[in-house]
Amino acid sequence: MSILRDKNILLGVSAGIAAYKTASLVRLFIKAGAQVQVVMTPASKDFVTPLTLSTLSKNPVFSSFYDEQDENAVWNNHVELALWADIMIIAPATANTLAKMVSGDCDNLLIATYLSAKCPVYIAPAMDLDMYKHPSTIHSLQSLTSFGNLIIPAESGELASGLSGEGRMAEPENIVDFITKDLEGQSPLLNKKFLITAGPTYEAIDPVRFIGNHSSGKMGFEIAEAAARLGAQVVLVSGPTNCKASDTLIKVIPVVSAEEMYMVCHQYFYEADVMIASAAVADYRPKNIADQKIKKQEETLNIELIKNKDILQSLGAIKEKQFLVGFALETENEIANAKAKIKKKNLDLIVLNSLQDAGAGFGVDTNKVTFIDKDGQIETLPLKSKEAVANDLIAKIIDTIL
Ligand code: PMT
Repeated sequence: MSILRDKNILLGVSAGIAAYKTASLVRLFIKAGAQVQVVMTPASKDFVTPLTLSTLSKNPVFSSFYDEQDENAVWNNHVELALWADIMIIAPATANTLAKMVSGDCDNLLIATYLSAKCPVYIAPAMDLDMYKHPSTIHSLQSLTSFGNLIIPAESGELASGLSGEGRMAEPENIVDFITKDLEGQSPLLNKKFLITAGPTYEAIDPVRFIGNHSSGKMGFEIAEAAARLGAQVVLVSGPTNCKASDTLIKVIPVVSAEEMYMVCHQYFYEADVMIASAAVADYRPKNIADQKIKKQEETLNIELIKNKDILQSLGAIKEKQFLVGFALETENEIANAKAKIKKKNLDLIVLNSLQDAGAGFGVDTNKVTFIDKDGQIETLPLKSKEAVANDLIAKIIDTIL
């Protein structure tokens, strides 16, 4: 599967003869499973028609801030376009467009969109050989690189001027190859499968009541996002939560009770490379669930509880290749309790968080954790955002398994 699959690719076309090659480029992106939108400079429409690119991309093509011919014209929002993009590629990028990208000379929609982009931007320059070698162009390319953009080097060959040399836009296949390799390099977890649990479980008492806990799901969703950002395919089994996964590489399976979470985890565990259990699973559930709402009668009400299966322990007992990570939420004897859980549940790593630490645990956006591995190595981290803790955990797993 191509890493470009499901990516939103924004193609910026400026006015060079190589613009005709963008028809093939759009086709290659679509074939790889990406969604493509195109923004053109006005002059580039003399080299390739918007109709060609809109037909191939299956999306309208934008070339001005609004349609002057249309009295009901709507504003083509460059910020919206830029934020939609996972990747922006400017191809061909002429000397004029490169210079405007450096100076921020924002007199067309393409430059305004580029200046609004927060995603990685790739630039495929195209011009005649002397223009390509000119100090002005070199200055533009160096400045754009220093801004964090990636240059896809021009290729050598016959040029539109009839001269031969360096300056031809990279062939569409080579552009796709360059972007694919670059994204794969940023994706050490490509093709790795993660199974992650998050949130609380609700154990029904009657049709309207349950036994639950304060887990918000934030920690588990951040871990899923951190793994997916690095290319992992993630199955996220979550108890009831308001959290939403933004990455398309995350398949969220909502569950309610510990029993449901157990079933789904066992279904996906065999194909997982890494399993991370951050859910706060109820240890007990009511023995009987009342069919009707329990009426208020006596001064006391006794509910008999029975033990739930320990999901993590059951997976530890059958694990083969899987790297198994548990969480431990403790209130006392933290390190000793966490170490005991590593043994009992056959874990490779445990993430300890203590309710003794301010800013750690349930609901909040921060956490303070200690990593303890199966050899007893301990690493205590300061209070951080849950996003930063998730990144640290994924980095630790990568260090260990790759
Ligand atoms: O969701 P948030 O609001 O962001 O809060 C995050 C968190 C505090 C819930 C999270 O950081 C955390 O600590 N999760 C584990 C909570 C917990 O249940 O800890 P435990 O020590 O009781 O369980 C140990 C491990 O066994 C955990 O990995 C747990 O998922 C797992 N377990 C426990 C019981 C059970 N029946 N099955 C399990 O798999």
